[in-house]
Amino acid sequence: MVRFLFMAATVNVNGRTFDQEHAAISVFDHGFLYGEGVYETLRTYNGQPFLFDRHMRRLRTSAGMLALSVPLTDAQIDARFRETMRAAGLGDAPDREAYIRILVTRGIGELTYDPVACPTPSIVVIVKPNVDPAAEVFERGVKVALVPIVRNHPGSVNPLIKSNNLLNNALAMQEAFRRGGFEGIMRNYRGELAECTQSNVFIVKNGVALTPPIDAGLLPGITRAFLFEVGAEAGIDVREAVLKDDDLFGADESFLTSTTREVVPIVQVDDRKIGSGVPGRVTRALLNGYRVKARALTARQPTVL
Ligand SMILES: Cc1ncc(COP(=O)(O)O)c(C=O)c1O
Repeated sequence: MVRFLFMAATVNVNGRTFDQEHAAISVFDHGFLYGEGVYETLRTYNGQPFLFDRHMRRLRTSAGMLALSVPLTDAQIDARFRETMRAAGLGDAPDREAYIRILVTRGIGELTYDPVACPTPSIVVIVKPNVDPAAEVFERGVKVALVPIVRNHPGSVNPLIKSNNLLNNALAMQEAFRRGGFEGIMRNYRGELAECTQSNVFIVKNGVALTPPIDAGLLPGITRAFLFEVGAEAGIDVREAVLKDDDLFGADESFLTSTTREVVPIVQVDDRKIGSGVPGRVTRALLNGYRVKARALTARQPTVL
C-alpha cells in the first residue's frame, strides 16, 4: 500500500516565500527545541480555504493555551495563504486544490523555558497540492488498529491544543502502521474511546451517528463539528456519546473524519469486521452530504455585470 506521496511544497517563512529546499527555520526556535507551537491544516475547495474562520478560531484557542500570541490578523493570514498558493500555482483551477498548513511557534530564543526569551513567534505556511485519499478508501473502507497508546490526559498536554508536539499521535500511528492500519484509534485514560491519531472517530448504531464528547479528551475536529450540521440537513441524528470498545465492535458502521480525509468508512478494526464489513448507508450519506455542502459553501459567485 502507498502510505504517502511526495509532493513538492512552497513555504512562507515569516513573510518570505521559498521553495521547499530553501525553506528553513533556526534550530534555536523553541518550536524545534521544545515542540512549543501550534498548527492548523486546511484544504481548499473551489480554491477557497475551507472553513477558514473556524480554523483561525481554533488556532488562536490552541495558541492561547500555550500563552502564545498569533501576531497576525485573520485577514493577514488569509493574504499569506493566498500569496503562498499563488507562488505554488495552486487554488486557481478545479484540479489544483491546495493543502495548507500553518504553524505558529514560540520563536527563536535562549535555551530556557521562559517565554520572555522569545519575543517574536515564527509563522510558517506550507502549501502543497491537495491529494485526496485513493477512491478505494471511500468505496471499500479501511482497516484501522485500536492501539494501546493512551491519548494524552487533558491535565497533561491537553488534546484540545492542536500542538506541534505530536509524539503522542506519532507513537500511536507507528503502532497502527505496524498492524497494517490506515489509522489508529486511541482510548483516553479512563479507557473510553477518544479519537484517532489524525482524525476523529464515529460509530453508527440504529441509524444514529455517535462520537465521543470533547471531555473524553480529544481534538475538537472542524470536520467533526461540521458533520453535525451535515447530519441535521440530511435528517441523520449525529450526537456525542461516551463510547467503549464494545460499542465499536458492536457498531453497525464506523467512520473517521478529518479535513484532508473528509469521511472515511472504517470496515475493520484489527482482525474484527465492523457491521457487514462494507461502507454503510449512514456513512455514505454523510460523506456525500459533506462533499456537496463543502462545494456549495465555496462556490464562486457568478460575476454580476
Ligand atoms: C488528533 C486529531 N484529531 C482530529 C483531527 C481532525 O481535525 P479536523 O477535522 O479539524 O481536520 C486531527 C486533524 O489533524 C487530529 O490531528
